[in-house]
Amino acid sequence: MATPLLALDSVSKKFGEIQAVDGVTLDIREDEVTAVIGPNGAGKTTLFNLITGRYGLTDGHIELRGERIDGLEPQQIVRQGLARSFQITNFFPDLTALENVRLASQAQRTGLTPGALLRHHNDDPEPRDAAREVLKRLDLLDIAREPASSLAHGQQRHLEIGIALACDPDVLVMDEPTAGMSPDETVETRELVESLAEDITIVIVEHDMDVVMRVADRLAVMENGSLLTAGPPETVREDERVQQAYLGGETA
Ligand SMILES: Nc1ncnc2c1ncn2[C@@H]1O[C@H](COP(=O)(O)OP(=O)(O)O)[C@@H](O)[C@H]1O
Ligand SMILES: [Mg+2]
Repeated sequence: MATPLLALDSVSKKFGEIQAVDGVTLDIREDEVTAVIGPNGAGKTTLFNLITGRYGLTDGHIELRGERIDGLEPQQIVRQGLARSFQITNFFPDLTALENVRLASQAQRTGLTPGALLRHHNDDPEPRDAAREVLKRLDLLDIAREPASSLAHGQQRHLEIGIALACDPDVLVMDEPTAGMSPDETVETRELVESLAEDITIVIVEHDMDVVMRVADRLAVMENGSLLTAGPPETVREDERVQQAYLGGETA
């Protein structure tokens, strides 16, 4: 089989006595959507923080296209082609939507942090065009000039996806993109994920099982920091351990 795009090997993280992630081995295949599911506290966000370099691993290693990325700084990992959108809000509230995406694009191109770029404001037009393309893809062009803080919650979450997209990733990691969204916003987000999946490999944590079952090519189920099972959604949802651990005995 071809080398997986992203390979996790025995990935572990301890916070003091808490084993938040416990020996997770998982291959992420190119052009697939892998959904990571599991109860609260299972270690999903921590796993993403390890993949994206926010935390160092206690044990194991992570390869992107066969090259080690564990130990790299988050910004270096972004430059290797892996970007994330956050479970918590992560943009500059006073800047417009366009400026937020443009800064992310410039940071990717220059290797500078968005904060450093803000202090040395320059008006290179190319990131602006790239940023407009991203906003168009997210259907946010109408509000390009609005301060990020004034956008609806759903638009803010899409803007965060735009900030990740501006880094031109091969792999997009998304932590609960529909969290706190209305049913309509959730449907829009699901459609957005489906459209992004046409040309980007996606790893997503998502609680909404309807979204999960529609977008995922593979499911990875976590419980107590460990990977319970991984495989095609139809197989995983029939797994008795999964039903007991996560679905409360019911099929979602
Ligand atoms: N920065 C941290 N410091 C200490 N413990 C943490 C930290 N982040 C997460 N944890 C703990 O790790 C476990 C897994 O949490 P998390 O990865 O947020 O789970 P999930 O995203 O699946 O809900 C929990 O017990 C949580 O309290
Ligand atoms: Mg989480």
